[in-house]
Amino acid sequence: MTLNVALIGFGTVGSAVYRLIHTRREAFKKLIGQEIRITDIVIKDKNKKREIDSFTRITTQIDQVLSNPEIDVVIEAIVGVEPAFSYLSKALEKGLPVITANKVLFAQKGDLLKKLAGKNATTVGYEATVAGGIPIMRTLIDLLHVNRISKVEGVLNGTANFILSDMRTESHSFEEALALAQSLGYAEADPSNDILGTDAFYKLMILCQTIFGQTPAWSEVPVTGIHSISAVDIEVEALRGNRYKLIAEATLNDDGEVEASVKPQLIDNEHPLYGVEGVDNAVTLHTDLLGTLTLKGPGAGGNATASAVFSDLVKCTEFLSISKVKAPV
Ligand code: HSE
Repeated sequence: MTLNVALIGFGTVGSAVYRLIHTRREAFKKLIGQEIRITDIVIKDKNKKREIDSFTRITTQIDQVLSNPEIDVVIEAIVGVEPAFSYLSKALEKGLPVITANKVLFAQKGDLLKKLAGKNATTVGYEATVAGGIPIMRTLIDLLHVNRISKVEGVLNGTANFILSDMRTESHSFEEALALAQSLGYAEADPSNDILGTDAFYKLMILCQTIFGQTPAWSEVPVTGIHSISAVDIEVEALRGNRYKLIAEATLNDDGEVEASVKPQLIDNEHPLYGVEGVDNAVTLHTDLLGTLTLKGPGAGGNATASAVFSDLVKCTEFLSISKVKAPV
C-alpha cells in the first residue's frame, strides 16, 4: 500500500517538505507500514526548473489533482488566504485530510476549516503554522486536557528575532541582518510581515483560538514591529544586560476576555524569553498546574517547518488507519 500525497506549493516550505518526505521514505515506511509518494505538486508557474522524481507530476490543475481518487492527503504550503482556502475546502469536502503551513490562512479561516473537517469526518493539521519546529499545537492540546492557561507570551517570528540577535552579536546593520535572514530562507516573501509584527500577530491569533477558544477583536490588538529599534539602542541596552525581543502576548482577563499585543520589549536575563536567540522561537505558557512552561526551538526555515508538517502527516495516517478500520462497521 502507498500513501499518495498531493503537495500544493513548492517554495521554501513546499520544497523542504518534498525533500524531507523523499529522504525519510524508509523511516516513514517503518513508522506507518506504508510507502509514501508525492504524486502531484501543484504550482503556479510550470516553467520554473525543479528537481523532482519522475513519478511526481507537476501541474497547475488543482481540480484534476483533487478529483484523483488515489490521493490520500493534501499538504498546502502557499501564502495567503486565497486560493489556499478554496483548495483546502474542496479537499475537505471530498473527505481528504489536509495539512497546512499557512498561518495567514489558518488565523483567518482555521475555525471554518476545522468545522469543515469535522463535517466530512476528516482532519486538518496545522502544527507548522506557529513557531516552526516547536511542537506547540500538540503540546497545547495535551496540556489543555487538564491545565488552565491564563497567559501566553512568545517570540513567534524567527526573522525579527534573527535580525535583533544579529545586530547585537555581529554588529550588522538592520539591512545586512535582514538580507542574511532572507538568504537563509527565514523571511516571508514580503519581509515587511516579519518586521512589522504582522506575521507574529497571525501566529498569536492562532494560539489564542487554541488556548482560549477565542481571539480579541483583531483591530484592537496593538501591533508594533522592530523597525524603529536602532543599532545604537540595541548596543546601549546590551551593555546594561538587556535585550530587545519582539514579544507577542495574550492574557485572559478577569472578565473572561482576551487582551493581546505584539511589540518589542526590553527584557533582562530573568525573563524566560531572554535566551531565545537567532532564528529560534519560544512560547511561554502560564498555567495553573505547572506554573510557567517555556518551549524553545527553531521557528523558521524549510527544515523546521517541514518537520512540523511531517509530524502532522504521521498523525493523519493514524487518523486514516482508524477511519479505515471503522469504515466497514
Ligand atoms: N517568516 C517567518 C518567520 C517564517 O521568520 O518566523 C516562519 O513562519
